[in-house]
Amino acid sequence: MLSRSMYASALLSTLAAAAPAPQVSGYTNADAGFPQTPSSLGTPASVFGPDSQVAASAVTTISGYPRVSANVTGATSHGPYSGTATTTGAVTANTTLATGIAPLPPNPTATYYNAQGVLLNPAPAPYTPNGGLGTNGTEPRYMVNSDFDFESIALGLYQEWIELDLFNNGLAVFSEEDFLAAGLTAEDRAYIAFMAVQETGHATLLTNMLGEAAPPQCTYDYPFTTVREFIDFNQKLTRFGESGVWGFINHLDSREVGQLLAQSIATEARQQMSFRQMLGLHPMPVWFETGIPQSWAWTYLAPYISSCPENTTRLAWQNFPTLHIINQANPNRFSPNDTKDNEVTGQRIIDPSNSTLPANESCVNVNVTGYGCGPAIAHNRSEPLTFPGKLVNLTWDVPGQAVGPNNSYVTSTSAGAPSFVAWVSQLNLTYTPLEVTGANTGYTFQPASEVYQGDPAANDTMFIAITDSDLFLTPFNLSMINPHVVALGLYQAG
Ligand SMILES: *[C@@H]1O[C@H](CO)[C@@H](O)[C@H](O)[C@H]1NC(C)=O
Ligand SMILES: *[C@@H]1O[C@H](CO)[C@@H](O)[C@H](O)[C@H]1NC(C)=O
Ligand SMILES: *[C@@H]1O[C@H](CO)[C@@H](O)[C@H](O)[C@H]1NC(C)=O
Ligand SMILES: *[C@@H]1O[C@H](CO)[C@@H](O)[C@H](O)[C@H]1NC(C)=O
Ligand SMILES: *[C@@H]1O[C@H](CO)[C@@H](O)[C@H](O)[C@H]1NC(C)=O
Ligand SMILES: *[C@@H]1O[C@H](CO)[C@@H](O)[C@H](O)[C@H]1NC(C)=O
Ligand SMILES: *[C@@H]1O[C@H](CO)[C@@H](O)[C@H](O)[C@H]1NC(C)=O
Ligand SMILES: *[C@@H]1O[C@H](CO)[C@@H](O)[C@H](O)[C@H]1NC(C)=O
Ligand SMILES: *[C@@H]1O[C@H](CO)[C@@H](O)[C@H](O)[C@H]1NC(C)=O
Ligand SMILES: *[C@@H]1O[C@H](CO)[C@@H](O)[C@H](O)[C@H]1NC(C)=O
Ligand SMILES: *[C@@H]1O[C@H](CO)[C@@H](O)[C@H](O)[C@H]1NC(C)=O
Ligand SMILES: *[C@@H]1O[C@H](CO)[C@@H](O)[C@H](O)[C@H]1NC(C)=O
Repeated sequence: MLSRSMYASALLSTLAAAAPAPQVSGYTNADAGFPQTPSSLGTPASVFGPDSQVAASAVTTISGYPRVSANVTGATSHGPYSGTATTTGAVTANTTLATGIAPLPPNPTATYYNAQGVLLNPAPAPYTPNGGLGTNGTEPRYMVNSDFDFESIALGLYQEWIELDLFNNGLAVFSEEDFLAAGLTAEDRAYIAFMAVQETGHATLLTNMLGEAAPPQCTYDYPFTTVREFIDFNQKLTRFGESGVWGFINHLDSREVGQLLAQSIATEARQQMSFRQMLGLHPMPVWFETGIPQSWAWTYLAPYISSCPENTTRLAWQNFPTLHIINQANPNRFSPNDTKDNEVTGQRIIDPSNSTLPANESCVNVNVTGYGCGPAIAHNRSEPLTFPGKLVNLTWDVPGQAVGPNNSYVTSTSAGAPSFVAWVSQLNLTYTPLEVTGANTGYTFQPASEVYQGDPAANDTMFIAITDSDLFLTPFNLSMINPHVVALGLYQAG
C-alpha cells in the first residue's frame, strides 16, 4: 500500500508541475488556490486514539431475512463433468405457436408527445402526474408474473450462484502472496470476499421472487490458473451478467421484480468495474452499458457449469455455437498488437487471456504511464487494446455440441449462411461484412461507428456474433436477432 500511495503522490506532483491544459473554456489554469492535500496543518497521524465518545444508545439488531446459502468457508469441488446426461435440451412449452416472432409496426398507442412541456391529462392526485405503471396504489407483489419473468430470473439466479462460488474460489485457490504479486493487497482480497457475500443476498432475493422451483447452486469448472486470469474471467463474467439483465429488465411483466433486480444489478455493475480496475483496464471506456438477450447470457454462462443437483429447474433459453476470436487482444501485454493467435487459456467462450507471458512483454509490473496495467483506479494505455479497422480473425463451432450442467444442453442455430459480424456495445448494433475464408473460418474489420459524436461504439468488454443478415435492430428489440445468429463470442475491445 505504502509504495502504491507514494507512487500516486509522485504522479500527482508530476501532473501539477506539467500544468495540464484547461478542459473548459473560461478557465485559464489549474490554479484553484485553495490548500490541497496533504494538509499543511501539522504532520500526518501516527497515533490513532483514544477517540472521542459520541452520543449513542444501546440498540438491538433487527434481524434480516435468512439467506438461502450457507457461508462458504473454503474451496468446494470443481472440475469438468464426466457423467452422462439424463435429460437433454432446453425446456420447451407443450405448445409453441409459431416458428418466430414477426416484426410489427410501432405500437399504435405509443403516441404521447408533449411539445409545450405542460400536463396534458388530469392528475390523479396533487403532485402526481398522470401515467406510469404500478402507480395507482396497488400493493406491490414481488413475484415473477409470467413464463418470461420466471425464465429470466431463473437465468439471473444461475448467474448469481456462479459468482458466489467463483469469487470465493479465487480467494481459496490463490494465496495472499499470489495476489500481492498481481498488485492486489489483503484489503483487495477482503473486498472480493465482500462481493461474494453480496451474491448470497442477490441469490436470496432472486430465489424468493421465483418460489420453490428456484434453481440451487451447482458445481463449476473454471478456466484460470493465475490471479490475473481469475480477475480477467471475473470482469468478463460480470460483464455478460450485467448486460444480460439490462437486456430483459424492461421487458419483465412484474415491475416489482424489475425494481428489486435493478437495485441488485447496480451492485453487479460496480463489481464489473472493480474487476476491470484490478486488471488495470480503463474502468468504463464507454458512455452506455449495453444489453443482450437472455439466450446470449446463457450461452456465455453454460460452459462453466459442470453439473447441478438432481431436479434442478432447467432453462428455456438457447445455447449458440461458440465464436472464437483468434487474435483476441491480451490485456496483460503492454503492446496488445503483439498478442499471439489463440492467446487464451482454453477454447471455451469467455476464457481469459493467458497471463503467463515473458516478463519483457507483460504490462503487469510495469509502472510507466501508458504501459503499466497493474491494479489502478484508471490507466491510460498508449497502445489501445484494439482499434477501428483492426483485422479480426474468427473461427466458429458447428452446432450440436453438448454444453452446460451435466452436458445436458445442446448448441443450436436456425440461421442461414454466415454473412455478417454483429457488434453489440453501448446503444448500438453495428454490422461488418464477414469474409469467409474456409470452413467455419473468416475475418472482418472492427467498425468505426460512433454512438454520439466523439464516442466510438466498439469499446469495453463487448459482444459479437456471426449472423446471416444485417437486420436493423435497436436495444429494445435486440432479441429479434436470435434466429439469425450463427455463433456468439465475447470481444475484448478495451
Ligand atoms: C516502479 O518501477 C521502478 C523501476 O522499475 C521500481 O524501482 C519501483 O519500485 C516501481 N514502483 C512501484 C510503486 O512499483
Ligand atoms: C455467515 O456470515 C455472517 C456474516 O459474516 C455471520 O453473521 C453469520 O453468523 C454466518 N452464518 C453462518 C451460518 O456461519
Ligand atoms: C405438458 O405435457 C406433459 C406431458 O403430456 C404433461 O404432463 C404436463 O402436465 C403438460 N403441461 C402443461 C402445462 O399442460
Ligand atoms: C392499476 O395499475 C395496474 C398496472 O400497473 C393495472 O394492471 C390495474 O388494473 C390497475 N388497477 C386499477 C384498479 O385500475
Ligand atoms: C427428483 O424428482 C423426482 C420426481 O418428482 C423425485 O422422485 C426425486 O426424489 C427427486 N430427487 C431429488 C434429489 O429431489
Ligand atoms: C500460456 O502461455 C505460456 C507461454 O507460451 C504457455 O507455456 C502456457 O501453457 C499457456 N497457458 C495456457 C493456459 O494456455
Ligand atoms: C522478450 O525476450 C525474449 C527472449 O527472452 C525475446 O524472444 C522476445 O522477443 C522479447 N520480447 C520483446 C517484446 O522484446
Ligand atoms: C491520458 O489520456 C488522456 C485522454 O486520451 C490525455 O488527455 C492525457 O494527457 C493522458 N494523461 C497521461 C498522464 O498520459
Ligand atoms: C498497432 O497496429 C496498428 C495497425 O497496424 C498501427 O496503426 C499501430 O500504430 C500499432 N500500434 C503500435 C503501438 O505500434
Ligand atoms: C477505448 O477507450 C479507451 C479509453 O478511453 C481508449 O484509449 C481507446 O482508444 C478506446 N478504443 C477504441 C476502439 O476507441
Ligand atoms: C487472419 O486473416 C487474414 C486475412 O484472411 C489472414 O491473412 C491470416 O492468415 C489470418 N490469420 C489466422 C491466424 O487465421
Ligand atoms: C448508435 O446509437 C445511437 C443512439 O441510438 C444512434 O443515434 C446512432 O445512429 C447509432 N449509430 C449507428 C452507427 O448505428
